[in-house]
Amino acid sequence: RRQPSRKGSMADVPQNLQDTIKSLEDTFDVSTAKLKEISDHFVKELEQGLTEEGGDIPMNVTWCMGFPDGHEQGTFLALDMGGTNLRVCEITLPEAKGEFDILQSKYRMPEELKTGTADELWEYIADCLQQFIEYHHEGEKLGQLPLGFTFSYPATQEYIDHGILQRWTKGFDIDGVEGKDVVAPFEQALADRGVPIKLTALINDTTGTMIASAYTDTDMKIGAIFGTGCNAAYMENCGSIPKIAHLNLPPDMPMAINCEYGAFDNAHKVLPRTKYDIIIDKESPRPGQQTYEKMIAGLYLGELFRLVCLDLYDNPEVRLFAGQDISRLRKAYTLDASFLSRIEEDPFGNLQETVDLFETELKLRVTRGECEVFRRLAELIGTRASRLSMCGISAICKKKDLKKCHVGADGSVFNKYPHFKPRAQKALREILDWPEGEKDWVDVRAAEDGSGVGAALIAALTIKRVKDGSS
Ligand code: GLC
Repeated sequence: RRQPSRKGSMADVPQNLQDTIKSLEDTFDVSTAKLKEISDHFVKELEQGLTEEGGDIPMNVTWCMGFPDGHEQGTFLALDMGGTNLRVCEITLPEAKGEFDILQSKYRMPEELKTGTADELWEYIADCLQQFIEYHHEGEKLGQLPLGFTFSYPATQEYIDHGILQRWTKGFDIDGVEGKDVVAPFEQALADRGVPIKLTALINDTTGTMIASAYTDTDMKIGAIFGTGCNAAYMENCGSIPKIAHLNLPPDMPMAINCEYGAFDNAHKVLPRTKYDIIIDKESPRPGQQTYEKMIAGLYLGELFRLVCLDLYDNPEVRLFAGQDISRLRKAYTLDASFLSRIEEDPFGNLQETVDLFETELKLRVTRGECEVFRRLAELIGTRASRLSMCGISAICKKKDLKKCHVGADGSVFNKYPHFKPRAQKALREILDWPEGEKDWVDVRAAEDGSGVGAALIAALTIKRVKDGSS
């Protein structure tokens, strides 16, 4: 869809709103120099995370030790515990690289579960798996089905079929899970129901994305999620991971690292945090955690927009929504990233869709001039997110000396937020300084299904590794 040119539209906008736009630009713009500074600091933090002492970024060892070679085979279950849905898939990997057979069902993840109890969580998940098996395998005699469980939160793993939740992220706040193994209570809930499933691998969505993408494209070196949360995984050599040196693994053995880099700069050294970022952090269930993620991930984009609107309502120079009841806007997290997407995609020169959106979602009447502020604000928040997102990716490229590669990307922001990819590529080019006229050396591309196919492939690789006795 062609975007109408918005040049010249500012002439009708009152001076105070033009000034507001200018000051929002000053607040949210991130310069090339700043991106470079952040990216360089990021490299240091990635390295620090691999050491015994550790740092802000966990750099979790995943025990996924190698890329698929195309000969993985068998039937596997994959369970994806995302923020909004729970997805169960049954995947049959073909004998030779080719089409996968996938059966899948989605279950809603009730909002209350996110702040409920641990028992409720595991029971709900086990119920969904039980339903899946009963529905697709009614009356069949089943052996134990191997399962790859995509659990997209930071976990400390000593083996691939075990994991201690470090802390909840993405707004989850379930008591009694942090600091504990998540596999044992999950398997107990399955056993209580007599569900014939054996957890083979506990994986992160980023690791799954990397492995699934590398299966079809060997130039894929990084798996990244730009969604409700943000994070990436890449393949390290065991010899470059000081915190596992005591295990004496062969130095050139590959080991996937789930960076958990949403926690980048929790020490607040380089990120250009605004007062809105600071409020989001303070009011979140885990203040002080996931500093980087809270500035760029989908969960927070609508909230940033809302906080700026509230601030401009209170500002006597601006007085957005003057004289109206803003009670709907007062409710935290009432807007999600799709609200911004729709404003950025408003096809009308007079921004009529934006007017309608405020009317239906927030019961607010807005002027043409105010719509210009919202349009610019959405662009600024979306652009800042895509630019900052590339600091982590460029840092991994620098650390691993990856001059040219593909990055497998997934998540709602990457897949649905308008202009994310071109903005991100532009930022990468600025940070990594490709020679003039060169095509993109590092190319962020839509990934294969990481938490389905990726989880199945990792389960297959794990079983093969155990059989070969090399684990
Ligand atoms: C959060 C989680 C991380 C996950 C990311 C994307 O950062 O902590 O494990 O990979 O979100 O879903």
